[in-house]
Amino acid sequence: MKTRVIQVDPVEPDPRAVEEAAAVLRGGGLVAFPTETVYGLGANALDPDAVTGIFRAKGRPADNPIIVHVSRPEMLRPLVTSVPPSAEKLIFRFWPGPLTLLFPKSTAVPDIVTAGLPRVAIRMPDHPVAHLLIDAAQVPVAAPSANVSGRPSPTSASDVLEDLDGKVDVVLDGGPCEIGVESTVLDLSGAVPRILRPGGIPREEIAEALGVPVEVVSAEGEVEGAPPSPGMKYRHYAPRGEMYLLSGRPEEQRDTAIQRAEEILKNGMSVAVLSSSENVPAYLGLKEKFPGLFHVIELGPRSDPAKIASRLFSSIRWADKLGASVILSESFDESGLGLAIANRLTKASGGKILPPASAHPLTVLFVCTGNTCRSPMAEALLRKVWTDRGAPRDLRVFSRGTGALPGIPAAREAQAVMKKRGVDMSGHVSMPLLPSDVESSDIIVAMTKAHKEAILSRFPTAQGKTFTLQELAGEVVPGDVPDPLGRGEQAYEETAALLEKALELVVPKLLTHPALPKEQGDRSASGRSASGRSASG
Ligand code: TXA
Ligand code: MG
Repeated sequence: MKTRVIQVDPVEPDPRAVEEAAAVLRGGGLVAFPTETVYGLGANALDPDAVTGIFRAKGRPADNPIIVHVSRPEMLRPLVTSVPPSAEKLIFRFWPGPLTLLFPKSTAVPDIVTAGLPRVAIRMPDHPVAHLLIDAAQVPVAAPSANVSGRPSPTSASDVLEDLDGKVDVVLDGGPCEIGVESTVLDLSGAVPRILRPGGIPREEIAEALGVPVEVVSAEGEVEGAPPSPGMKYRHYAPRGEMYLLSGRPEEQRDTAIQRAEEILKNGMSVAVLSSSENVPAYLGLKEKFPGLFHVIELGPRSDPAKIASRLFSSIRWADKLGASVILSESFDESGLGLAIANRLTKASGGKILPPASAHPLTVLFVCTGNTCRSPMAEALLRKVWTDRGAPRDLRVFSRGTGALPGIPAAREAQAVMKKRGVDMSGHVSMPLLPSDVESSDIIVAMTKAHKEAILSRFPTAQGKTFTLQELAGEVVPGDVPDPLGRGEQAYEETAALLEKALELVVPKLLTHPALPKEQGDRSASGRSASGRSASG
């Protein structure tokens, strides 16, 4: 299919240009058009075949329903069986605008639009082009955001074309979208109004208009009772680069970003930081030090969430265009529009949150059997290698044994070969592996495959953060780290040399794992991400 791009003036659209697109809608085709929030991918909402085309073009899961767009309040009635008084109030106050309301659907609305659900989501967009298009088409328009499913929403015609060129009939190019995040989706069916997706109309304004408190479904889509918006369960807004959300005070975020970015850049990977205007100058040093590899994308001043929202999706897309392998985004106050911003950033990063670097030392646990030879040697050696590298960040390292008796000092030979390396191990005493050890570790390094298996069978939560040394260091470790116990000092020397060589290779991996330190957010998600990268890296 050849996609036709029609330029329209966003303020005073030419009715003839818009009529061309309206005819495509009436004929069952797909038209991408600007709204005040993001670009929508529209089809005649009353034509199931046309709506099927939307799902196909986007690659959208069939169980994710679509918002129906109207251009006048009169268009609402035929689509629904009732309009509660609270909805009347909100319509009067916020339509046209970025507020989507759920209503019990009438038979006029095809099941495919609501993905079989009994309720239909409806909104009246506040954009001259959208308004004129729906008016001219003379049908309600079903329209999700005009991106390929899972990608950031499009806020310009070129974003739309990036994702959907050749998959839609017409793109009405009416310039950039003003708001930049999608509409608020509100469910009024329960005792308490509930925001299923925070968006352009802030929670506070809805609560104020209704005179009651308003609930918000968490970014993960978790809520007790009624099912949340089906769309919440899908991966959303995802850039191609690995994205992480910085947490803490703005200056902590900045310091963490600089530190983590530098570690990653030193390993030859590119980094983009999505920054508040206030923090931009602080990143310029890195830009000079790593030209072409480090990028700062300015979202806007912390005092101006509207600006940040308007640049949010295009900034994420820009980071992709720059080829950033890692994207570090600052986070923002969650009041007003900030809630929608936080929701999109959390989703875009897949819930991977970076705590302030200073707050959580990276915690590494080595495990062998008796905790008297291999694992305490590895512990001591990692500490040494780390210090030799200038202690790039706070590290906590300790060791345990799967079958250890408590309180036994390190083997004499182990102490001897360590002493040669300037490492004093005389203070070490053995300890068995306990659940709290597993819990408090960011990464667990097993000396052998059997140790790894023993750990995982006893502690299922260690899944995803437990590796053999070989998995982390690669082929310098030929298999299991051999047990020198009872084989004389030469065997200890060989093991120490092997560990030293392996740990030199492990250190950069520990540093380039932005997800390794303990998270305050979704631990499991980022634990998995960390594991995937270290095992394959
Ligand atoms: O601002 C917007 O809302 C944009 C513009 C184009 O209007 N549209 C948009 O649509 O963001 P979409 O499909 O990308 O997101 C719609 C969200 C999804 O999370 C979907 O699950 C939810 O609204 N939704 C739609 N119909 C629903 C229904 N009947 N019940 C519950 N949730 C619904
Ligand atoms: Mg969408």
